[in-house]
Amino acid sequence: MSARSADWYKDAVIYEVRVRSFFDANDDGKGDLRGLTSKLDYLKDLGVTALWLLPICPSPMRDDGYDISDYRNVHPDVGTLEDFRIMLDAAHERGMRVIMELVLNHTSDQHPWFQRARSAQRGHPDRDWYVWSDDPKRYKGARVVFKDFEKSNWTWDEQAGAHYWHRFYHHQPDLNFDHPTVREAMLAVVDHWFGLGVDGLRLDAVPYLYEREGTDCENLPETHEFLRQLRARVDALWPGRMLLAEANQWPEDAVKYFGKGDECHMAFHFPLMPRLFMAMRLEERRPITEILARTPDIPTNCQWALFLRNHDELTLEMVTADERDYLWKEYAKDPQARLNMGIRRRLAPLLDNDRRRIELMSSLLFSLPGTPVLYYGDEIGMGDDLNLGDRNGVRTPMQWTPGPNAGFSSVDASKLLLPLVGDPAYHWQTVNVSVQHANESSLLHWTRRLLHLRARHPAFGRGSTVFVDAGTYHALAFVREHEGDRVLVVCNLSRYTRPLTLDLARWKGAVPVELFGRVKFPPIKGGGYPLTLGPRGFCWFALETA
Ligand code: NOJ
Repeated sequence: MSARSADWYKDAVIYEVRVRSFFDANDDGKGDLRGLTSKLDYLKDLGVTALWLLPICPSPMRDDGYDISDYRNVHPDVGTLEDFRIMLDAAHERGMRVIMELVLNHTSDQHPWFQRARSAQRGHPDRDWYVWSDDPKRYKGARVVFKDFEKSNWTWDEQAGAHYWHRFYHHQPDLNFDHPTVREAMLAVVDHWFGLGVDGLRLDAVPYLYEREGTDCENLPETHEFLRQLRARVDALWPGRMLLAEANQWPEDAVKYFGKGDECHMAFHFPLMPRLFMAMRLEERRPITEILARTPDIPTNCQWALFLRNHDELTLEMVTADERDYLWKEYAKDPQARLNMGIRRRLAPLLDNDRRRIELMSSLLFSLPGTPVLYYGDEIGMGDDLNLGDRNGVRTPMQWTPGPNAGFSSVDASKLLLPLVGDPAYHWQTVNVSVQHANESSLLHWTRRLLHLRARHPAFGRGSTVFVDAGTYHALAFVREHEGDRVLVVCNLSRYTRPLTLDLARWKGAVPVELFGRVKFPPIKGGGYPLTLGPRGFCWFALETA
């Protein structure tokens, strides 16, 4: 692998992959690490520079592996530690980084730590690895996250004779971060994976590490103190590795996960995501510009992670109650699509499989300030399956070919871990990699071109952002600039063709060159630069010196 540039994550294009659903190399119906390794060339060709692997550790799989029972190993379903090493080497050889999950807030109730804790005497240090109480009314300021499944954050444990604390499913007891040995154990897990050569860790559910009475038990100062310790250790022992915070929080709380550049390197921008969908539906830019205006500046060594969809429901926690009702009404007309505080659908179905809207949304994902995270299958416009429980409908097997099992596995179809998407509008026989590969006009080819264009302009990953008035609230325009590399992005969010007048006075003399076709546009002479964009059209221009 080439020399590690310390802030590689700023130029990255991250691909979120569920290993179990990607490619099955041993024909047992479940995707595996060897399968992923065999598909790295596909990802490299697409323009992906980093993989984010959904959980692969041993687990009873009651929350898709976010319920870990052994932090240092690989679930036999997906392979062995040796398979993991081989995949990692193969990714590095191709210049791709690998980001793993660090599920630090909770374990499975099957983890030996919990088994030991529940049978330990009160007062014994083993017991204190988890959070116990006789009174299930403690910490009542904390919300229940999985509200469709759990009524309380406490569950009674017969063996321990006490209630234990859990922010997610009842079979995922929270670790007690007040216990120094727990913190040390988690730091040892970090050393284990970084020691194997992993490039980044996504800190799952990081706002919930500590509990304090009288608070909502989120974003507590103690959590940030722990993150500073973690970061100091990473800087000392693992320079060039990255920590990514999964903190589903308002901008002012989310930025705290960067600290002063001494906590996480990256954090997901949760509030921006639903507002992209809102802007699409309202056909106006305000939801986007307002949330970005409300987002404080971040330390120079830090970066937002942007996403449209992921393996969870499209969360609507970071919008107001009115906005949530609006988004539910517009995007989840079928009540089956609603889950907890969100919508369990993939990108293409959310956008009515409208190619223009998919391209417009992708153009925003890949041009707004931050590092884009692409969810597997969205590059070919995969559909989903609302008949599957929980979030499984957005986790179905990757569709590779029109052949048996969509080329995902050679097992008998009844043995697939999840059924393929059979909805006629998204059927795997037509929506798949090989069919799209053969068609230059496919979404796959378009996405690939977009990523390759993006890669030529460091301004996308690193640049400053200046919003440009376009004469109408239906348009969003901005200039990204980094060390002389300047890119102008213009989007027409409306369903109709619109004449725009861009205030580009600041860039007088520059020549906009459209990136897809390298077509030169008239030079910028002053303030009002006219441009007409078709329905939901967008343009990326390099602003070159004449
Ligand atoms: C966030 C993960 O994205 C989600 O899939 C999981 O269920 C919860 N954390 C609990 O680990």
